[in-house]
Amino acid sequence: MIHRHDVIIVGAGLAGSRAAVEIGQIADVAVLSKVYPSRSHSGAAQGGVAATLANISKTDRWEFHMFDTVKGSDYLGDQDAIEMMVREAPETVIEMEHWGCPFSRTEEGKIAQRKFGGHTLEYGKEPALRACYSADYTGHVLLHTLHEQCLKQNVHFYSEFQVLSLIYDGTNHRAVGLVAWDMVNGGLHTFYGKAIMFGTGGYGRAFAITSNAHANTGDGLALVLRAGLPVQDLEFVQFHPTGLWRSGILVTEGARGEGGHLKNKEGRRFMEDYAPTLMELAPRDMVARAMQTEIDEGRGIDGKDYIHLDVSHLGEERLRERLPQISDLAMNFAGVNPFKEPIPIQPTAHYSMGGIPANANCRVTFDEGRTETTGFYAAGECSCISVHGANRLGTNSLLEALLFGRRAGKQIVEDLPHLDWPELPAEYEEAAKEEVDRIFSSSGDEKVGKIREELQQTMMDDCGVFRTKEQLEKQRERVHEFEERFKNITIDDKSQRFNTDLLEAIELSHLLEFSGAIVEGALLREESRGGHFRKDFPKRNDDKFLRHTLARRENGAWKLTFDKEVILKGVYHEGFEPMERKY
Ligand code: FUM
Repeated sequence: MIHRHDVIIVGAGLAGSRAAVEIGQIADVAVLSKVYPSRSHSGAAQGGVAATLANISKTDRWEFHMFDTVKGSDYLGDQDAIEMMVREAPETVIEMEHWGCPFSRTEEGKIAQRKFGGHTLEYGKEPALRACYSADYTGHVLLHTLHEQCLKQNVHFYSEFQVLSLIYDGTNHRAVGLVAWDMVNGGLHTFYGKAIMFGTGGYGRAFAITSNAHANTGDGLALVLRAGLPVQDLEFVQFHPTGLWRSGILVTEGARGEGGHLKNKEGRRFMEDYAPTLMELAPRDMVARAMQTEIDEGRGIDGKDYIHLDVSHLGEERLRERLPQISDLAMNFAGVNPFKEPIPIQPTAHYSMGGIPANANCRVTFDEGRTETTGFYAAGECSCISVHGANRLGTNSLLEALLFGRRAGKQIVEDLPHLDWPELPAEYEEAAKEEVDRIFSSSGDEKVGKIREELQQTMMDDCGVFRTKEQLEKQRERVHEFEERFKNITIDDKSQRFNTDLLEAIELSHLLEFSGAIVEGALLREESRGGHFRKDFPKRNDDKFLRHTLARRENGAWKLTFDKEVILKGVYHEGFEPMERKY
């Protein structure tokens, strides 16, 4: 079956939905989502969305937000895009307020703002209250507000469709369409449009302990690689310091923003040894490394692999008002009462700084000179624009998704009159059909769940918070072996309707398609920067590595290059020169 729409968006999270609201006002737009739209992973974000509204920190300014984001990125962020993001942040958040988003309020009735890691006033002098929040349900309320706006614009949703291939004309660098599997009824569907946008989310499910939803299997990245396009900076994976022990479920940084403490087995606030000025509110890469060091050196609680997050001194009333979700999660998933006891936590794979290379207008680029593709756009976590560089600050993700979703929508509206209907190639469904047939007919003795678990555990062990050449070389071999073993899988369920065996096999093939790029990038980058820490190269090396990594697959083999230099200035701001990062 072929579906024709002016614009096809993949992903119904904040980036995809925000773009759809913009486009739906003038054109026919369809959104494909592998889950029901309001269950998209953006809804799991808790603590806030950054904007210099200065509702509480009255002297806050976009220049401070820009400085914090650039420094937080360990200087790998492109400063023209960062400047754009921080300047447009206030109007982006206020627009959501005007659409009815139920933010928490100050006593004067303004949007409430709280502290978050790495956000400061006066270029690092003191923490800023910059995160606009709705208790600890910020992503949830933003997502529902946008979904209402999509319904108002008659956006056409195709829910529970798993995308299998991007139809891409490599000669003219033109995106043409997509082929997807209908999870509910079975069967392939082709979607054909003048413009294609990816808002397909991150790749946290490549790791065993993650705050990411099960659906976050980096599908967009795998499809882009299969279409012969590169992915960028995949070695930069963010470990959020406070995942619930063993399950990895997010415990918002807002808990520390509200005054929560991290303690080791001696009951000591160990962050004084690592970031004496900002303590628990240092950026995530630093806090996660500090925690992992405490654990590795035997100062985890009872000598185990977890640390305590203590919020009990904040009092039950404040916790129920500001942090109700994490209070429930601690009780239901860790069996502790956070009003009285500390919460056991450990670093959890949380965010993918790398992704599909795109510029600040959200046009996907395909080479080292950042040449634009035609009719192909990306925004949100799947994209690498790159506003987060080597490490993202908390609350800049909801901002990025909303803001670049909005920019992508506006750009597509502007481009549509100049985009013709592309030609569908004769074999447009061939690759997707072959993939599904292969999974259904394969009869080897390997199980999808087993390979996935081994991949996730070994990525965690050998490509996690700390990395070495030996570990990464071992992991390179393993990923290759997992790919070979995947050729010998069998799935038990051969039916068409809601076949989760099939879905899990497709998702594993996507995880395997791009995981090698995380490992290869980490091997190539012989330095430590942001979320990527090489124990054998513990220093940052700007002379060699102040560059973005591009990874492509050619006949299965990886080819890595560096793109042109990181952009070190904005349009209005002269930019921030790389300095040593201290907090
Ligand atoms: O900790 C949190 O609430 C997560 C926020 C974020 O990743 O931006």
